[in-house]
Amino acid sequence: TDPALIRNFCIIAHIDHGKSTLADRMLQLTGVVEQRQMRAQYLDRMDIERERGITIKSQAVRLPWAPTQGGDQGGGAGATHILNMIDTPGHVDFTYEVSRSLAACEGCILLVDAAQGIEAQTLANLYLALENDLTIIPVLNKIDLPAAQPEKYAAELAHIIGCDPSDVLKVSAKTGEGVAELLNEVVRLVPAPVGVKDAPARAMIFDSVYDAYRGVVTYVKVVDGTLGKRERIKMMSTGAAHELLEIGTNSPEMTPADGLSVGEVGYLITGVKDVRQSKVGDTITQYSNGATEPLGGYKDPKPMVFSGLYPLDGSDYPELREALDKLQLNDAALVYEPETSAALGFGFRVGFLGLLHLEVIRERLEREFGLDLIATAPNVIYRVDMEDGSTHTVTNPSEFPVGKISQVHEPVVRATILAPSEFIGAIMELCQNRRGVMLGMDYLSEDRVEIRYTLPLAEVVFDFFDQLKSKTRGYASLDYEPTGEQASDLVKVDILLHGDKVDAFSAITHKDKAYAYGVRLVAKLRELIPRQNFEVPIQAAIGSRVIARETVRAIRKDVLAKCYGGDISRKRKLLEKQKEGKKRMKMVGSVEVPQEAFIAVLSSD
Ligand code: GTP
Repeated sequence: TDPALIRNFCIIAHIDHGKSTLADRMLQLTGVVEQRQMRAQYLDRMDIERERGITIKSQAVRLPWAPTQGGDQGGGAGATHILNMIDTPGHVDFTYEVSRSLAACEGCILLVDAAQGIEAQTLANLYLALENDLTIIPVLNKIDLPAAQPEKYAAELAHIIGCDPSDVLKVSAKTGEGVAELLNEVVRLVPAPVGVKDAPARAMIFDSVYDAYRGVVTYVKVVDGTLGKRERIKMMSTGAAHELLEIGTNSPEMTPADGLSVGEVGYLITGVKDVRQSKVGDTITQYSNGATEPLGGYKDPKPMVFSGLYPLDGSDYPELREALDKLQLNDAALVYEPETSAALGFGFRVGFLGLLHLEVIRERLEREFGLDLIATAPNVIYRVDMEDGSTHTVTNPSEFPVGKISQVHEPVVRATILAPSEFIGAIMELCQNRRGVMLGMDYLSEDRVEIRYTLPLAEVVFDFFDQLKSKTRGYASLDYEPTGEQASDLVKVDILLHGDKVDAFSAITHKDKAYAYGVRLVAKLRELIPRQNFEVPIQAAIGSRVIARETVRAIRKDVLAKCYGGDISRKRKLLEKQKEGKKRMKMVGSVEVPQEAFIAVLSSD
């Protein structure tokens, strides 16, 4: 295709503002999906996405569109253009994937719910789009809703992107109103891609998806040159060579082609079995006489949040390993290694991009693989400098080094919060409590503000979003991006049962919060641990210094004493019941702890 007739665009929107519905309408209007094949959210293929209504993996689809079609009455149809719509994931954890999808585009539709206005994610993604020099088309969706306030939010949008309120398009993805005009505007406003036709090929990977039948399907945008079918290609970050088994476009089903050239977006299949060999952000070129300079922007996915995952039933350990292996085929950001906990047995320390990522993986393990899991409280990565000059990277609190520590560093994020201005006080209080440092505040309109903070990631991964929602009656939205690390006054708090450390309960906290953590856990455990034959002290300690203590008093475990007389069957029943109870107990040192105690302590806040 002549690059002049190509338009590559994406839709950025906050969750639920209607991106998938709009994409569906576009598929229909351009005729690539017939009415009767149409099902809601055609592009969101993963079940869990469909159920939770969130988009996790991005996809690209090719839409033919002749600008006047469906819109103007006069004139007749213009030349048929190829619109490549690239669907971007909407959540904070996937910022890097969003930024690569944006880099494959020349323009983007900024889609905002006309009854809700701009949200933090919309804004964060807008900044990413601006960084990538994209042409922005502001669009209000859901104008059919009685609660829509198109004038108010058009003014808000115009204010933020610096255009005139009359430039803001108004559509209903549900009824289709305004969607044809929007496609016309995409053709008119989004620049055609530019690239060097006769250069060695350079194609950027913006998505990579594992398919059980075809292996890894890699989505690319060709920036320079041409990739032909059956060509030998090279991944520039690693130098690895692959044979192109198939190349083509999504229309929206995979349609093989002879090749892809400047400005084109499509997929390719090389037979690799694992998305880590075909990484988002990498540049593909020809194996021989290929390009020497990769396209910019490649980053290895970096896990930010760690949690220990343990099967409730220890014999499920091999199944858990197999399930993680399978999920990793499709998820280059998922990392894990075996871990043993004295309290929880055999499991894995798993690294995630963020909390949603963690939740999605956990849910898939439980739902798709039928595993019952215990997850330890999520923690971030700490870097610990010792006085002897050595440095430790800690992904599991129980491995926090002992000895003379000179400094502990923790990751920090830049958080953007959008909310009605009446909640400013509550939000500032919450951020202050979470060790936040305010960066600034702006009014988006007279009653809505954007508040920016630097916050330790550890404080954000722990129920921050829930707290924010409850303190703002659900009105605030949050986005954050990593901005490096800071030195902080952090300590490890251990929990001891009868003198033995329970590794699963060790936590790294700020010094000022260590006491509260200790007191809370010790009190909770006292309620959950049944009396034993001996007295059990429960202690919280920093190093060898005890900061909190409770005691479970001893009992004489004489259950049969109650059954005086000779009712032997009753005695047997009791004994059996007790035996069964024992099965669900874990021994921690000499103390029996019910499984439920671990779950209760680890799952609540
Ligand atoms: P994520 O995939 O989670 O990012 O959400 P999304 O932005 O793709 O939103 P989606 O298309 O799933 O729409 C969210 C909800 O809004 C759904 O219940 C849609 O039916 C509804 N919706 C989308 N567009 C419109 C519209 O124009 N009018 C009305 N009334 N409802 C709409």
